[in-house]
Amino acid sequence: MNLTLRVWRQKNANAKGKIVEYKVTDISPEMSFLEMIDVANGSIIVKGGDPIAFDHDCREGICGSCSMYINGEAHGPARAVTTCQLHMREFKDGETIYIEPWRAKAFPVIKDLVVDRSAFDRVIQAGGYVSVNTSGNTLDANAIPIPKEDADDAFSAATCIGCGACVATCKNSSAMLFVSAKVSQLALLPQGQVEREERVLNMVDQMDLEGFGNCTNTGACEVECPKEISLDNIARMNREYMSASVNSKK
Ligand code: SF4
Ligand code: FES
Repeated sequence: MNLTLRVWRQKNANAKGKIVEYKVTDISPEMSFLEMIDVANGSIIVKGGDPIAFDHDCREGICGSCSMYINGEAHGPARAVTTCQLHMREFKDGETIYIEPWRAKAFPVIKDLVVDRSAFDRVIQAGGYVSVNTSGNTLDANAIPIPKEDADDAFSAATCIGCGACVATCKNSSAMLFVSAKVSQLALLPQGQVEREERVLNMVDQMDLEGFGNCTNTGACEVECPKEISLDNIARMNREYMSASVNSKK
């Protein structure tokens, strides 16, 4: 396949970015999207240029770092996959592909396609943990009975990889899908009960402090989420927040 890439290039956080065009040739349809960028970078380097900066780590859909907009869609045209799991067979020979970073106030661009997602880390620090008894009377987690439906819902919420596609694709740059997945994962399990109320209050407060927008029930986040995190989690988080707010005022 021969392709034209139109890529957002931005030297640093303060520089003005622009779209730059590159031609790539002899791309195999079996290559992943990131391997295709590797090929593009190879030819940029040979010509003495600065390779396109992009985040990547696991390249198997686990770490959530390979975040980018491809032809106006978070993680590209395929559903339920990350950019590293996207294959070039999803594109046509001769196609022009636009590649851009996430666009959200809370995710400032660091360079080219790399954005700063540390806002997510700070939301997790605000409450995404559980207290564990380490006094010598530690209870084996496998010995705690958990209803199957709760375990399944908690597991589904736990599959969120923190990629930020939900924020990038939301017209309000809302992080509600991400935060609600993290709140739900712990609120559904016995181990998460100790900080249940303070967790949801603190994580939502931090989410607001970071400059993420609110949810207006459009549902774009659920469509673009590579892990198909359900909007049900947002409804659950709203219920958790409401009840924790009422109890905190008692
Ligand atoms: S909810 Fe989905 S889109 Fe949002 S950070 Fe988690 S995995 Fe990514
Ligand atoms: S590189 Fe880890 S999810 Fe894509």
